[in-house]
Amino acid sequence: MALREIVVGDCETLRKKCRVVTDFDERLRQLLDDMKDTLYHADGVGLAAPQVGILKRVVVIDVGEGLIELVNPEIISQKGKQKGSEGCLSFPGEYGMVTRPNRVTVKAQDRYGKEFTLQGKELLARAFCHEIDHLNGIVFKDLVSEMLNIE
Ligand code: NI
Repeated sequence: MALREIVVGDCETLRKKCRVVTDFDERLRQLLDDMKDTLYHADGVGLAAPQVGILKRVVVIDVGEGLIELVNPEIISQKGKQKGSEGCLSFPGEYGMVTRPNRVTVKAQDRYGKEFTLQGKELLARAFCHEIDHLNGIVFKDLVSEMLNIE
């Protein structure tokens, strides 16, 4: 088990567009394993590689239904709308209302490079959108309609 340090606050690293993964090697699998450990240790729902300082298109998500690993994920279709509160491990204690699609289909590769598609609705759809945004230098605060103060 290895934890990586989570990048916190407004910083350059979270604003970069991440590179497509082309090498499905041990190094990638180590990154995914470390991101999983870091996600669970932080009790989060999702984590994108730039949040641990790695500018690659890699994401891990667990909305309570098991771990999902996404390499080079892309949203290929979306439907409906949901408005709900959102937060981010890189902005601890900050929450805001964000409107997202209610259903999302994602195309991605697994840790060995095999392509797959996955559908998510509600919280999972929100997590897909939030984490894929990170790969493009977008953070949820860019999309917030109103910030919430949670004591
Ligand atoms: Ni985030």
